[in-house]
Amino acid sequence: MNEQAVRPPATPDEWKQYFDLRWRVLRAAGGQPRGSERDTLDDVVGTLSIVHAALWAGEQIIAVGRLHRRSATMAQIRYMAVSPDRARQGWGSEIIKYLHQRAHAGGTSTIELDARESAVKFYERHGYRVIGDAPTKWEICHRRMAVDL
Ligand SMILES: CC(C)(COP(=O)(O)OP(=O)(O)OC[C@H]1O[C@@H](n2cnc3c(N)ncnc32)[C@H](O)[C@@H]1OP(=O)(O)O)[C@@H](O)C(=O)NCCC(=O)NCCS
Repeated sequence: MNEQAVRPPATPDEWKQYFDLRWRVLRAAGGQPRGSERDTLDDVVGTLSIVHAALWAGEQIIAVGRLHRRSATMAQIRYMAVSPDRARQGWGSEIIKYLHQRAHAGGTSTIELDARESAVKFYERHGYRVIGDAPTKWEICHRRMAVDL
């Protein structure tokens, strides 16, 4: 793999690409406006409770994901997105493995997330199990999933 290692965005342009990929993959098709790809935790800086993860091919971003701690032992992953021209090439797996490593190192023992139906198999490949239904968002059915690290 020639791509660089998973890491947080480091420059204003990289942050712009980071949120742009989220929006393009997760919001644009549903007609959601720019800004809908962020939440208030994205404004929190300088804390170990939030991990931003991204992969680049040269200067172009290809995959992103975010983890935030919800308690001393539990965390949540949101905003997993891989550029469509790079899907099914292992990049999403690289992002999730990085987030799991960082979570484990920080004392997290369980991660929960709300998975789109279309992504359930991806998360199952990474040890997650369905623990219930999650709210339907933008007319997309979601399943609540969890993994013990
Ligand atoms: C879901 C997503 C993050 C997965 O990332 P990815 O880089 O495409 O996935 P990987 O190549 O690492 O896949 C690893 C394994 O997960 C499973 N998998 C991934 N995508 C799958 C799909 N669409 N259908 C079935 N299985 C899938 C496969 O077992 C795959 O291994 P294989 O290709 O050897 O069969 C990415 O496709 C994506 O951004 N999808 C659109 C946005 C989205 O749904 N995000 C998640 C919101 S909850």
